[in-house]
Amino acid sequence: MKTIIEPFKIKTVEPIKFTTIQQREQLLRDAGYNPFLIHAEDVLIDLLTDSGTSAMSSKQWAGIMDGDESYAGARSFFRFEKSVKDLTGFKFIIPTHQGRAAEKILFTLLGGKGKYFPNNTHFDTTRANIEYSGAEAFDLLNEVGKSTETIADFKGDIDIPALERFIQEKGRENIPLLMLTITNNAGGGQPVSMKNIKQVRVIADKYKIPFFLDACRFAENAFFIKKREPGYQNKSVKEIAQEMFSYADGCTMSAKKDALVNMGGFLAMNDAELAGKARNILIVTEGFPTYGGLAGRDLEAIAQGLEEIVDEHYLTYRIRSVEYLGEKIRNAGVPFLEPPGGHAIYLDAKRLLPHIPPHEFPGQSIVCELYRLGGIRSVEVGSVMFGKNDQLTGKFIPSAMELVRLAIPRRVYTQSHIDYVAECVIEAFENRRNMPGYRITYEAPMLRHFTAQFEPLHPKRSL
Ligand code: F0G
Repeated sequence: MKTIIEPFKIKTVEPIKFTTIQQREQLLRDAGYNPFLIHAEDVLIDLLTDSGTSAMSSKQWAGIMDGDESYAGARSFFRFEKSVKDLTGFKFIIPTHQGRAAEKILFTLLGGKGKYFPNNTHFDTTRANIEYSGAEAFDLLNEVGKSTETIADFKGDIDIPALERFIQEKGRENIPLLMLTITNNAGGGQPVSMKNIKQVRVIADKYKIPFFLDACRFAENAFFIKKREPGYQNKSVKEIAQEMFSYADGCTMSAKKDALVNMGGFLAMNDAELAGKARNILIVTEGFPTYGGLAGRDLEAIAQGLEEIVDEHYLTYRIRSVEYLGEKIRNAGVPFLEPPGGHAIYLDAKRLLPHIPPHEFPGQSIVCELYRLGGIRSVEVGSVMFGKNDQLTGKFIPSAMELVRLAIPRRVYTQSHIDYVAECVIEAFENRRNMPGYRITYEAPMLRHFTAQFEPLHPKRSL
């Protein structure tokens, strides 16, 4: 059969609330045109993030009941530890309440003034944790990854010659860690090839610098390798994932993505001394080493989720459902970052709204319009998130790309939900000339996109 179906039956349903366009216009005004500030109840289809929004399986829910809540040495910890070790091969597994808690511990230990951390593209919390420590974060994505139009298999690859030049310029002693984010979330959910991971290993060995993966979406990355990289077609996704991890010295992981849970994460590594120091911080900030920031039931759900995520029926459906949305909007001429990513479609706001310059936040304009039109919540990944004003001149420095991410939660929405999203995106595209630019009226000093307030600039309609 050619039709790819959702590889599950639905046992529990959660109704979603319908609102009118007029209600949503008011809700947008009340939220300062920042959908992060809209109540989730007032969202019809929530594509804000694929993080912590997965539907858990009946076996994960059974694990929740079965969780061992002992403070020390809980059975659930050992099940969790075994499943992470089996997948990653790393020796020391440190549970944290989510990905950024693992980052916080890692960069507290390795960061500080005068230190530099390269990555294909740092996710915003990774960059923030590095900068918070006093260190600097650098994105060394390969050229093809920076184009939204070029179709290529591994647009998440790091630029290897640039990485080597970077190490020589900054000095290996100032670079405590090399990182790769798989898949590259801030660069369109694009995968990193096994070849690229191996090349980073060679550089790590040459300069004796540890190499960590930001592994949130490791299974989606492994599935792309299976489909696209020669030599991997006959390997299982789990074997491919194990090979990816085998080239690294450790990883940070937000289990809220490819471990199919609503909360959780971990830090894993082979270096006993570093792990000892990490556990000392963990005890102060998260919890005892056998639970970290989590309850026993969370650890059970992660262990089960890590087994389910490498299922190839699941991944076939998962990658196909994102690609399906891409195909529908591509056929209507809507510009987006090609090819579709593993967990999301990223609309290209620069090409979609050429009449709105970056300092008027074209991505924010699309985000507001998708909510107004169809109650769909998405997120700007452009100059609201990454743009800055130069500290000396006050001049606006835009983000390299102006994107709007439509992130698809795992196992949550069906094909008709996706059809509805496509219809709404296409309608917004057809009315694009009426969409206004925006101005920021309030911003926080760090990670401003979460709480910023906006005002439409040339309100043609009631917006
Ligand atoms: N690294 C990557 C690549 C991520 O995408 C995220 C989270 C994190 C680290 C941090 O993990 O949220 O568990 O603390 N990404 C979410 C998103 C928030 O919407 O893409 P966390």
